Amino acid sequence: MSNNTKGRRDFMGMALGGFTALGGLGALYAMKRTWDPLPSVKAAGFTTVDLSGAQENVLNVEKWRGKPIFVLKKSKDMKADDRDVVIGSDRFHVSIGLCTHLGCIPAYVADDKKFKCACHGGEFDASGHQIFGPPPSPLEIPPFKIDGTNLVLGEAGPEYKKMLDAGLTV
Ligand code: FES
Repeated sequence: MSNNTKGRRDFMGMALGGFTALGGLGALYAMKRTWDPLPSVKAAGFTTVDLSGAQENVLNVEKWRGKPIFVLKKSKDMKADDRDVVIGSDRFHVSIGLCTHLGCIPAYVADDKKFKCACHGGEFDASGHQIFGPPPSPLEIPPFKIDGTNLVLGEAGPEYKKMLDAGLTV
């Protein structure tokens, strides 16, 4: 092989490698954009989440006191529920993301608009009600307060207290 051919092959390899790396970066960027959580601030046991940028039928998973918190903006075709957190004309499902059977983290299946728990097949609807399998109760609603378009997790506001008094949080 002449030096020239080898040089060209190395160059081609490098060019292809660079191309692949760039493609990978693009894919990573796209994934990051999809995974980017809503803007949130954590301080002293509270997590404040700005819901103004939430997209319908896209699950956001926040963290509050070490627990996953599901925040799902409902689409118009989803049934309204007394457990919904209402901000303006938008409705959100907010719950602790732990299956009420044995505590696994259910996945949200956007096409079915359901939470499905892989551990024993339990299912919850988009309002967190158990609809199939062994879970004995709905997904639990954490204490929350509404502050403008912000959801403050860890503080019991009037909307949460109303749900608590009505026995809707568990
Ligand atoms: S832990 Fe979810 S169905 Fe058992």
